Amino acid sequence: MCGIVGGVAERNISDILIEGLKRLEYRGYDSAGLALINQQHVLRERRVGKVVNLEDAVKTSQITGTLGIAHTRWATHGKPTEDNAHPHLSDRVAVVHNGIIENFEELKNTLIQQGYVFSSQTDTEVVAHLVTEALKTHATLLSAVQSVVPKLKGAFALGIVHADYPDELIAVREGSPLVVGVGIGEHFIGSDQLALLPITNRFIYLEEGDIAYITRQDVRIFAHNEHEIERPTKELDATVSHASKGEYKHFMLKEIFEQPEALQQTISQALNGNALREDFLQHAELDFKQVKQVQIIACGTSYHSGLIAKYWFEQLIDLPCQVEIASEFRYRSPVIVEHTLYVCISQSGETADTLAALRDTQKRAKAKGLHISSMAICNVATSSMIRETDHHLLTLAGPEIGVASTKAFTTQLAALMLFILKIGQVQGKIAEHVLTKMIEDLWHCPKVLLNTLQHNAEILRLSELFVEKQHCLFLGRGTNYPIALEGALKLKEISYIHAEGYAAGELKHGPLALVDNDMPVVILAPKDDMLDKLKSNMEEVQARGGELFVFADEHSGIAEKDRQHVVKVPSISHWLSPIIYSIPVQLLSYHVAVLRGTDVDQPRNLAKSVTVE
Ligand code: AGP
Repeated sequence: MCGIVGGVAERNISDILIEGLKRLEYRGYDSAGLALINQQHVLRERRVGKVVNLEDAVKTSQITGTLGIAHTRWATHGKPTEDNAHPHLSDRVAVVHNGIIENFEELKNTLIQQGYVFSSQTDTEVVAHLVTEALKTHATLLSAVQSVVPKLKGAFALGIVHADYPDELIAVREGSPLVVGVGIGEHFIGSDQLALLPITNRFIYLEEGDIAYITRQDVRIFAHNEHEIERPTKELDATVSHASKGEYKHFMLKEIFEQPEALQQTISQALNGNALREDFLQHAELDFKQVKQVQIIACGTSYHSGLIAKYWFEQLIDLPCQVEIASEFRYRSPVIVEHTLYVCISQSGETADTLAALRDTQKRAKAKGLHISSMAICNVATSSMIRETDHHLLTLAGPEIGVASTKAFTTQLAALMLFILKIGQVQGKIAEHVLTKMIEDLWHCPKVLLNTLQHNAEILRLSELFVEKQHCLFLGRGTNYPIALEGALKLKEISYIHAEGYAAGELKHGPLALVDNDMPVVILAPKDDMLDKLKSNMEEVQARGGELFVFADEHSGIAEKDRQHVVKVPSISHWLSPIIYSIPVQLLSYHVAVLRGTDVDQPRNLAKSVTVE
């Protein structure tokens, strides 16, 4: 997804902007650019491809400046070309933009009639021309921008500079995240605070509709109605700044191996010995008491964790639970039932579809006078989702940089289980001994996860057998059916091998037709009530010449044989097995992708945080 960095300082900021863009590379992009204001001129460089291309261009042209904006672009309107890369210029204005201007065609037609010439296919360029036009009737850059923003429809963030205003950076947040980094005698903007961590740990988080007027000495923020408002400056804990690969070849591998610790952190916030902490989600108790059903809304991997939670909600605490992909939910106008708890699951907390589904539900419930409550399970404490829900539970996974979600997923599962236990306790629907046993198992989980990671070398060997394959099936049952979906998603997103996840019971209803001796079939086989049925499914695959790759409980009785490879997974309570069985599918996908030579951390066409529809 696109990234914005900008700044105003006394020193040359070109290196700071480039470094900021590099720190946003993980979000996925296809071109990069920057514009600097120097002696009342706009100096611009843009390049297709990686930020390092832009860096080389800036070194060659030696452009410098104390005010500037920079951008990584993930193409939405118009191809990934240099002409379409940001910043976009109009006369003496330069603009960078994240998100989408939905009414840009209409605006563009009017601007063309007024004589403006467009040099790109983007929606962004209209903003630059609109500011130029507005400056004909407005005395300041700020008031010109304030007059332009209400004309724009869509969800966006903007960074704007002008050659005649060499100490003014204007930032707009309207549906797409933007933070202001506070320095001493200098200020910066970033679409993710990560971009600015080398220069500051003090941030002002802009709210929807905010327009920030930023100079070297000052940050002034104006709301929709143009009234100046105060936003607090927050200081970040130094630990969030760890965003390097360390000893690992890729962020994804590092993040896979960080899972025991991430899990431990997530669990520790809620537990005290073999009980839930008294203050854990205390503020939500009243809502939890009244909850009659749960609706989970999420996308991608986060949706898969929701699917697992459905089994837990219904089997463990007898509470009805529905799960739906946010992009479908938001356009379906689902019936709102009073006392439903809407749970948004998201690593980033900025996923456009999930946020839109939440906002739409809140709006419709309010209009109908229905009491509902909302909850976010999220990895980013400062995200929009956390701010806009009634309650939240953080997954303490630390920054996840690899596009393929790993530690965010397993910590989401742990967080969901903790939150289910809490509702069960509040509603008196979970026996004390079941609660105690579950907590005991949760504490044990990081250790089991660590032991599962020990199978890395074995999984690497198996991955060699996938390198030449075109297709792959993943099968599981019960709570490991969503792990089959997740395994398939992981494999396709980073290795580009076509993969499908199925409930093993569905095999005979279609996918069995695909099985031949060139089709690897990955089986998730924890020791649970469904194991015998799963073994029958394995027979069905073998009988058709399929090659089995089985991740099986060490006591499952499943052994290696011809065309049946087995990795023994340490035993765990059947409730928590999806957390553990995530590990082998993550490792398998990772190694296959590395062997196939793909860009593991930034797979093609994908973005880490999908902040546009
Ligand atoms: C997973 O590996 C993905 N890259 C993707 O499916 C992701 O989970 C999805 O885009 C949702 O993101 P979120 O958790 O930040 O909302």
